[in-house]
Amino acid sequence: MNKIHLKDKDFVPYISYEQLEKAIDAVAERINHDFKDFDGIPIVLCVLNGSILFTGELMKRLDFPCEFSSVRLSSYEGTLSTGITRKVLGLTSSIKGRTVIVVEDIVDTGKTITDLYALLRDAGAANVKICTMLLKPEVYKKDLKLDYVAMEIENRFIVGFGLDYDQLGRNYKDIYILDTDKKPAKTMKHYLIFGPPGAGKGTQAARLVERYGLRHVSTGDLLRREIAAGTPLGLQAKSLIDNGELVPDSVVEGMIASELDTHPDVKGFIFDGFPRTTAQAEHLDAMLAARGQKIDTVLSLAIPDETVFERIRHRAEVENRVDDTKPEIIRNRIDTYHAKTEPVISYYKGRGVYKEVDGLGTIDEVFDKLCALM
Ligand code: AP5
Ligand code: MG
Repeated sequence: MNKIHLKDKDFVPYISYEQLEKAIDAVAERINHDFKDFDGIPIVLCVLNGSILFTGELMKRLDFPCEFSSVRLSSYEGTLSTGITRKVLGLTSSIKGRTVIVVEDIVDTGKTITDLYALLRDAGAANVKICTMLLKPEVYKKDLKLDYVAMEIENRFIVGFGLDYDQLGRNYKDIYILDTDKKPAKTMKHYLIFGPPGAGKGTQAARLVERYGLRHVSTGDLLRREIAAGTPLGLQAKSLIDNGELVPDSVVEGMIASELDTHPDVKGFIFDGFPRTTAQAEHLDAMLAARGQKIDTVLSLAIPDETVFERIRHRAEVENRVDDTKPEIIRNRIDTYHAKTEPVISYYKGRGVYKEVDGLGTIDEVFDKLCALM
């Protein structure tokens, strides 16, 4: 096994085909054992594209009657309502009343597999078993039971045996890992500026960027740009933002992924207004880990709700944000913060990167406190 080069990245050998074969032998044996006396014909469901090679290898080893089908999951779409907004695409057999063995290449945060599980149950599957070739236990936080796991791996970015980097690398029979030794990204330092609406995240981020040469990314600003440009995403997000509601996690996660991909050479990012839910925080960790990176420090600005009101009312006089105009909308933004965003604090406390400053005082005073933490 030699190093491989895909687009702008080098990958080094990680799991050999021989090791994979052994792990697949073992997992197939467990499935064969469980289905030995099964009264019926299960459907082996390959989740495209990543699990195509794994499904082939697995099916060769299954020794009970089974059907085959394949699916893809649509990316998030629809009306930005809450709940599942993905669709199962290309399901050829009816699964009503059937037992389905879902075959995945890899499970990391578990978002895709839990969505798929719910969608298959909604479509009438009597029983859904999950079989994954690889699992990243460090980042898997869902309650859904994974019935068959061939191999557990660390939280690193991998390609090969069906897995891709920007659609490349699926054809290699061994699995490779990003060669982080020579990655400039290893020296990147990422920060979060955290706090309720009007805490001063944008104000302080602009100054921190100037002093430390970081790249500022505010999901609120990105969304307002989409609205101003009248894009489909902007049109969908507008009413939610104007009412002080959050847009769905997948929308902002997509924006952040695109920022990370398009600015690989920056010293680091300062994320403002993201993550805003624990699911977003988990997703961000997974995205950074895939690049061999992590959050260095969460800089949290603590201010009471009354100050939020004052500051936002003051800003409404100079800026033109629809969500700043009505007290009931500001109230809803604050309530949404307490209900959905505050839990992110314990997530980062648990990771030992959370630091809080008093957000009251002048802009300069708060800035000095933040600099002391950097
Ligand atoms: P976003 O744009 O992020 O709004 P926000 O979190 O409500 O925060 P603000 O931008 O209002 O406040 P800020 O903390 O940046 O304070 P600022 O520096 O301006 O998000 C908007 C919407 O987009 C959300 O409601 C949601 O719908 C959606 N969205 C965004 N991200 C999302 C995500 N990840 N997931 C889902 N949905 C998402 O300061 C406020 C004012 O106070 C200014 O006038 C400033 O000059 C003044 N000020 C600042 N510091 C001080 C100080 N120390 N003393 C006196 N005045 C000060
Ligand atoms: Mg802001």
